Parts: sequence; structure tokens; C-alpha cells
Amino acid sequence: MSQAPTARKTIETLLQEHRHFQPPASFAAQANARDPSIYERADQDHEAWWASWAEKLHWDRKWDQVLHWDLPFARWFVGGKLNASVQCLDRHVQAGLGTRVAFHWEGEPGDARTLTYAHMLEGACRVANGLRALGIRKGDRVTLYMPMVPELAMAMHGCARIGAIFSVVFAGFSATSLKDRIQDQQARLVLCADGCWRRGKLLDLKTVVDEAVAECPSVERVVVWRRGAGAATASRKQARDLEWSAAFDHQPATCAPESMDAEDPLYILYTSGTTGKPKGILHTTGGYLTAAYATSNLVFDLKPETDVFWCTADIGWVTGHSYVVFGPMANGVTQVMYEGAPNHPNPDRFWELVARHKVSIFYTAPTAIRAFMKWGDEWPAKHDLSSLRLLGTVGEPINPEAWVWYLHHIGRERCPIVDTWWQTETGSILITPLPGITRTLPGSATRPFPGVGAALVDEQGNEVQGAGGGYLVLTRPWPSMLRGIWGDNERYHKTYWSRFPGRYFAGDGCKRDEEGNYWLLGRVDDVMNVAGHRLSTMEIESALVDHPAVAEAAVVGVPHDLKGQTPVGFVLLRAGHQPTPTLAQDLIEHVAKLIGGLARPERVIFAAELPKTRSGKIMRRLLRDVAEGKALGDTTTLADPKVVEELKQMYEEKES
Ligand code: PRX
Repeated sequence: MSQAPTARKTIETLLQEHRHFQPPASFAAQANARDPSIYERADQDHEAWWASWAEKLHWDRKWDQVLHWDLPFARWFVGGKLNASVQCLDRHVQAGLGTRVAFHWEGEPGDARTLTYAHMLEGACRVANGLRALGIRKGDRVTLYMPMVPELAMAMHGCARIGAIFSVVFAGFSATSLKDRIQDQQARLVLCADGCWRRGKLLDLKTVVDEAVAECPSVERVVVWRRGAGAATASRKQARDLEWSAAFDHQPATCAPESMDAEDPLYILYTSGTTGKPKGILHTTGGYLTAAYATSNLVFDLKPETDVFWCTADIGWVTGHSYVVFGPMANGVTQVMYEGAPNHPNPDRFWELVARHKVSIFYTAPTAIRAFMKWGDEWPAKHDLSSLRLLGTVGEPINPEAWVWYLHHIGRERCPIVDTWWQTETGSILITPLPGITRTLPGSATRPFPGVGAALVDEQGNEVQGAGGGYLVLTRPWPSMLRGIWGDNERYHKTYWSRFPGRYFAGDGCKRDEEGNYWLLGRVDDVMNVAGHRLSTMEIESALVDHPAVAEAAVVGVPHDLKGQTPVGFVLLRAGHQPTPTLAQDLIEHVAKLIGGLARPERVIFAAELPKTRSGKIMRRLLRDVAEGKALGDTTTLADPKVVEELKQMYEEKES
């Protein structure tokens, strides 16, 4: 067994990291990106660089202008017209590649399906025609609440085909979270599955949808895809429900695509910010596809004729949007899609899939890599992983220990690793190695993708030159950047463009070494990264305060060996409520119920008082120190310094 991995050491060890790895010569010789001068060329004229990628897509009408930049609002490929589903489906089928496998899908119980690009095109067209028959038109919003099944990708392409704006909500979110999102976007239709399999259990998704939609008057219809394989759930058919088979299966298998403006919305995807209300991140069509296509091609070195690509992210997150449904499909590559848990029935489920489908490029999250380490080296060792030629990671800083384990036990010293930094807002990978060119270092995402402008700034916004640390900002617009927050332009401006005027504030701390490599250090705001999932402390605090026993709550993210971070809640009870273990458990479940299991606090600590500044602001930094068992930081601005000592004692009692 390997040692229990430690995410905790990430930041401390990161900067002492001097190991480095050159791209293997055989890899470099065949790489899509071979010529290091592309960095310089893209830098000199980033518009021409991005336009050279846009030209590889199929446009109904070419753009008149590459970029119109009216800070902070960008328009890319102005005047151009295209359809997203055409890039990912029709182009390949028309080129005679309809029989190429788009997805090797596997359900958790072991049922499997193979879908070609022709199947995916037909499926998307049937959905598109069915949506039109239900009265859905260009610009209408459609919410998707589905597990990892090919029908989800078909539905996204089906919406894109007729210009409906889709919004996928991760199927682990609660009814309340789903309701909030549907209400925010005023969706007319919900597409869902009745259930899905996770760790041997059937999750009932339809009941969650029923609960959410009961409070969403904008929703006219709910279309239900049946998971089958014994997956009948307890949910009941409602008057507005339609079976997927009745709504779509009998529709024609072709559908003329809507010619969309490059800047027409493609999708809305919600992500957590620093307030309690999630932000509906808006992505548009032409620029988004261009960047998803280009980065898939260069970062993952896709060779569609021979590669089998597997991105393990759920489609409910941005990684699944850009690197399952759009980027790889625009490149026409074959992919693996898996429904369930990585350790069901055994911890080698992934490796068995890699071997069986001869996966050549594998993209996952550091939290998964740390789980693989914990489960033991023997699981990957049992399988023939010789098909793998490139590995990737995304979602949080990777600790060098996990990076090196990944290289050794999965990449067998042969595969380059691309550590890719980006965000829901950026739409595509922005800081990353190019695997045939870049010398990699464990824990560093290395350098900005060609054409991307990144910089570090200090508290006052002064740019840090050379080696040093600061806040990561982006200095130029890029094609897949968010175009706004759904219904809230002011928040868009305030969140991203006001802290350092003229530059996009990413919310991450970062160091740059003497060679110009970027080392991402994690969030600098009240956003947590739990097992690669983004959560806001405020959202969890609101969920705690929603409980009738709670008067006040403060939540902090504390380091966790597997998840990177985990939420811990400090709670002040209302008079008449006793701090009992049962109540603590109740509160934890209350958060899970309101947000979803992913937000469940690791623990709840009852406090007699919360540390506050004299102006009444909760000092989360001190709570973090308490939860991490660190010596207490500066408490001079505290209204009552004794509070922290008392809390610390309580926390330690709880720990022991
Ligand atoms: O803190 C950074 C971290 O994840 C945040 C973005 O989260 P989300 O929008 O959910 O998107 C995740 C998938 C793209 C970033 O602000 N992050 C993402 N990738 C990395 C990372 N931190 C360090 N290294 C990365 N490679």
C-alpha cells in the first residue's frame, strides 16, 4: 500500500519542487504542437492566432471582425454564423466518419452501449425536432438534470441545434438548488432521467425534479428519460410529464440546424461565487467552440483516427461541457463515458475500462488521483495500461506527491502530464503545458496557453515582474471567456473586473518561478474547492442558518487529505436548543438537503460566540486557524479575543 496522500502539504512543498520532466522524444516528434514559436506568434497577434483556429470550424457565414472589445464585454467573430452541433456531429458524418465511435458508454451495473457519430447526430436531431414540437424556440431556456449517459450529450446538441439555451445542473444537486437554477433562468422545459446508479445504489432523480418543479411555474413540461436496467424509481407521473421515448424517439432523424450568431448564447452553467447566490455563467457560440476545439487539439494532442479519450468529469461541471461534449466532439475523437463510481464494484473499475477500451488519453482530478493512491498501487498494477500516452489533471492544485504517483503508477513513466488550470468562467484551459513542447514540473500548470495573457498583481494592482507571487489576472480577452452572469451584468462587472480595473480577476493566488512557470495556490476568496467542486462558504452558511435551531453560522474550508478541502461549520444556537451530537448530524444533513451531498460539512462545532471584528465581521481566517489547529493569527482587531481560545478548546475536545 502506498502512504496516505497529503493534499495538506501542497503549498508548503510546492515551491521546493525542483524535479522536472522533458516531453519524451517520441511524443514530441508526433505532437500536434511541436513548434515552440507558436507562443511568440500567438502573442504578437492573438486575434490572428484565434482566427486561425476558428477557420477550422464550419461557418455558415464568416465573421467580419475577429474581436470587438468594449471592456469588460467581448464579442468574438462578430457577424459570423454557425451552429455548435454541426461542428461536433454533421462535419464528421459528412466527412464519411459516421461509423466512428463517439462514445463507449458503460453503466455502473455493467450494461454497455456503443454510439457512433451518426447515432449521436440522429439522437440530437430527434431531440431538436421533439423540442420544436413542444414549442421550444431559439433563446428559450431548457434545464437538463441527467446523469452520465449519452442522451445528455444528445440533449445538449439537440438544444444547440435549435438555438435553445441549455443549462445542465449536476445531478448531485438537491431539489432546492435545482429549483433556484430553474427559477433564475426561467426555464420552459426540464429534461431529466428517472434515476442513475452510484455505488451500487439507484439514485432517484425524478423525485428531486418533481420537488423542484413544483415551485417553478415557468416549466411547462418535464421529459423523462428512463434509465432502465431495473431502475424504476418511487416517483409518480405528473400531468406535465412526458416520456423521452414519446417526445423524441418518433421524431425525424434529421433536423436543419439554426444558423446562430457567433455571439448567441450556447449555455448557462451555475457556479459558486462569494455570495450565497450561485452565478449563471453565460457562454456563447463561436468563440467558445473555437477555444474548446483548439485547446482539445493542442493540450490533449488529439489524433481522432487513433485516440480514445476519457475525461472522467461529470457533464454537470464545466469540464464535462468543454472536454466531453464540445472540444473532443468538435475534434471527432472517440471517447469513453462511465456512469458510476470509480471504486464500484472494486477500486480498479477505471483501469479495467482503460484497458478494455484502450484509452490513450486520460483526464481526471487531483482528488481522484489521491483516492487512487489511498486505495493502493495494486489496483492499477493489475491492468494493461500500455494504451495510455498522455495524462491530464484539472480542478484544484495537484500536490507534487500525487503528480509523481500518477506519472509512475498510471503513466508508467512514459506519459507526459498536463496540469490544466481554468474555470467555469474561462470556458477552456488557459494555463497548461503543451505536451510535446513544455518541460513539466510536478505541481505547476506551467505557462499560459498560446494567445492567453496572464499576469500576477499585488494587493494594489501593481504587476509583479519576474519571479514572485500575487493574484492571478488575465490581461486580454480570450474567445471562450464568459460573456456575463445571467441576468446580472452588474455582478459580472463587479466580480471580475472591478478589483483590478481593466484586468480579469480569477480569484486564485499564484506564484511564478524564475523560468516563468505558474504555480496555482488555490482560491483567495470565500470560495472552497471540495473534491474539485466549487462551493461558496456563504451558500453553506445560509443553509445552516436556514435550520430553526441556528442563530448564526460561519463556514471555513479546511485542508483534507483526499478532497483537498472540506467545509467545517461553526454554529451559534438559538436559545432553547442544546448542542447535541444528534443536532450536529441534523445540521449536516440539512446542508446536504438544501444544497446537495457535495456540500455536507465534515463537522459542525457549536460555539458560544463567533470571533468578530469590532465592526461585526466574522473573522473566518481565525476560524480556519482553529480548524487547522494552527497557532492563532493576529487577534488584535477582535471584539473579544477570548472567543477564539474558547472555540479552540471546543474544537480540540471534539477532535479527541
Ligand atoms: O481555484 C482554481 C481551481 O478551480 C477553480 C475553478 O473552479 P471551477 O470553475 O469549478 O472549474 C473547475 C474546472 C475547470 C479555479 O479558480 N483550479 C482549476 N484547475 C486548477 C485549479 N487550481 C490549480 N490547478 C489547476 N489545474
